[in-house]
Amino acid sequence: MDISGSKAIFVGGASGMCRATATEFAAKGGQLSILDLESSDGAAVAQELGGKFYPCNVMDYDDMADVMDSAVSDMGGLHYVVNTAGGGGAQRTLKKDGTRHSLSDFRRVIDLNLIASFNINGIAAEHMAKNEPNADGERGVMINTASIAAFEGQIGQVSYTAAKAGIAGMTLTMARDLGVLGIRCMTIAPSLFDTGLTAGIPDEGAQQLTKDAAFPRRMGQPHEFATMAIAIYECPMMNGSTIRVDAGQRFAPR
Ligand SMILES: NC(=O)c1ccc[n+]([C@@H]2O[C@H](COP(=O)([O-])OP(=O)(O)OC[C@H]3O[C@@H](n4cnc5c(N)ncnc54)[C@H](O)[C@@H]3O)[C@@H](O)[C@H]2O)c1
Repeated sequence: MDISGSKAIFVGGASGMCRATATEFAAKGGQLSILDLESSDGAAVAQELGGKFYPCNVMDYDDMADVMDSAVSDMGGLHYVVNTAGGGGAQRTLKKDGTRHSLSDFRRVIDLNLIASFNINGIAAEHMAKNEPNADGERGVMINTASIAAFEGQIGQVSYTAAKAGIAGMTLTMARDLGVLGIRCMTIAPSLFDTGLTAGIPDEGAQQLTKDAAFPRRMGQPHEFATMAIAIYECPMMNGSTIRVDAGQRFAPR
């Protein structure tokens, strides 16, 4: 897909990897909307990138449809959705005090990551289906965010791993579901990246967590996620996969 003239929604676009992708997209001539929590920097980021800010919470599933409808109607269409809103919680399957992982905490992480991503993709697909296809038959691209924890979850990450593995798992099926419409679905699985989410990790902690990478042994930078997300948008052959952006890192158990 050609970015110039394309219209995009960046969910989680006020910060980190999604903000970097929105910045790159705007620099290449795309039109965009930033969707993020009301408390985020979304308004300032949207203004900087020449777009509009739409406050939302991805866990308000019905509201998300209304918010995305507004953004699409204001832009006059939708070709690209990138969603990074998400996060985890730290709790073992059986805790050190012998009690079980809270079911409501487990469900909350699944809701925030997996159910919200599925909901956003479905709403986006409804809009993209209305596009005139380009010369290659393409109508749109959606990118979800997993984590390498989807494949090598560390101790205490069971809810996060389950949620991110669910996102990775639905990617090919969704691409197959939507292939008839010329809509592609991809997932990016980052290792440790230097973003708002990881701002509290001290330097020594980051060195410890990236020491087993092949190269480079450091945190990823948001623009390195953006490079991948933009390449996916521009390359029609990228579809149905979860791509690791991880410097060859494999998480150890702890
Ligand atoms: N940073 C990492 O090391 C790393 C590694 C692997 C996966 N991830 C995944 O990346 C995503 C986080 O992106 P980031 O690292 O750029 O962090 P970030 O905190 O810089 O950006 C995430 C954005 O999502 C928004 N957001 C969070 N919850 C939301 C909600 N309920 N509704 C709407 N917006 C919401 C935040 O306000 C923020 O602006 C998560 O899905 C996380 O699991 C991050």
